[in-house]
This record gives sequence, structure tokens and C-alpha cells, in this order.
Amino acid sequence: MVKREAKSLRRKSLILCTSSPEETIQLGQFIGEVLKPGSVIGLCGELGTGKTHLIKGLARGLGVDDRYYVTSPSFTIINEYPGRIPLNHFDLYRLEEMDQMEELGYEEYFYGEGVTVIEWAEKVLPLLPENRLMIEITHLSENRRKFRITGLGDPYRDIVGKIAHRKRNEPFGCSQ
Ligand SMILES: Nc1ncnc2c1ncn2[C@@H]1O[C@H](COP(=O)(O)OP(=O)(O)OP(=O)(O)O)[C@@H](O)[C@H]1O
Ligand SMILES: [Mg+2]
Repeated sequence: MVKREAKSLRRKSLILCTSSPEETIQLGQFIGEVLKPGSVIGLCGELGTGKTHLIKGLARGLGVDDRYYVTSPSFTIINEYPGRIPLNHFDLYRLEEMDQMEELGYEEYFYGEGVTVIEWAEKVLPLLPENRLMIEITHLSENRRKFRITGLGDPYRDIVGKIAHRKRNEPFGCSQ
């Protein structure tokens, strides 16, 4: 008898697209549902590409109560939302230098039990944990956005694999 190995879902990267803000929230929810406590996600993308919309969905997927309204915080760099898994949201748009991250106590978030998501992650690349999920968002047209999702380290490659697997019945294709 031929012995078959269980098919691994592990995968390094994946490109998905959305056609509306709502679809981006749905994609975020998908991702939130497969994240584990302690996950770190770096988000990169120009102004207004949809980083905050993706995080709204992440919050939903992590079981954050809807009454917590996820926005781009204007002056607060960190927002914390309680949930099935708590969500820490860093928005580094206004961060002037990396030293400020020490004052914010970033390590407690990056190496804690909640899920931590970082908008403008490119500003603190050297401080990010080696193992993490990276999501780069590109503006394709008024309502289309492209998401390149990369898993750094095996646990995150498993997450990318799960997102890819779940996508089969879902609309996030880029062929349109
Ligand atoms: N497919 C899409 N996904 C997400 N947002 C979209 C999409 N199509 C259009 N939009 C619009 O793009 C904008 C995205 O705003 P959002 O605050 O999520 O971006 P951001 O990357 O967090 O911006 P900032 O850099 O200012 O923090 C919103 O106005 C939204 O309505
Ligand atoms: Mg934002």
C-alpha cells in the first residue's frame, strides 16, 4: 500500500485582490480567524490604500466587539481592543524616530499574547520580530486593491497556507 503524507498547507506568499472597502474588511476577517495569540502582522502601503479597513476586519475575525470602532488614531499611536484574542493596533504614521518605540514599550506588545498589527511597519523594520506576517497593499484603481501576504517563519507560512486554502470559495481573485 502506498503511504500518503498529509498534505502540508505551508506556503510562503500569496496575492489576493479586493474590489471594495467591504471586501477588504471581509479579507481581514478571514485572516483574523486563522491568527493565533501572539501573532504579529506588519502592514505596508501608501496613504489611503486600505490598511485600516483590513484591520477593521481583523478585529472582527478576532472577536473584538463591534462597539469598538477601529479607526486610524489621529494622535494615539497604540490602540488596544479586547476580544477573543485581544488586538493591539499600532499606527506609526506620526512616528518620528524609532527611539519612540522604546517609550511605547513595544516589546510587551510584539512578544505578548495578543495579536499586534502595525500600520507603516516599514518605519520600524529592524524592531519587528523575525517571524511575522507581512502584508503589502497596493492601490490598483479607485476600488481595487492588491494584497501581497508573506509568511516569515514556519508558523506564519502555515497561516498563509490556511488563508490560501480558505480562499477557494471566496472572491479575492486578482484576474479581473
Ligand atoms: N478595495 C478597497 N479596500 C479598502 N479601501 C478601499 C477600497 N476601495 C476603495 N477604498 C477606500 O480607500 C480608503 C482606505 O482607507 P483606509 O483608512 O483603510 O486606508 P489606510 O491605508 O489605513 O490610510 P492611512 O494611510 O491614511 O492610514 C477608504 O476611503 C476606502 O473607502
Ligand atoms: Mg490607516
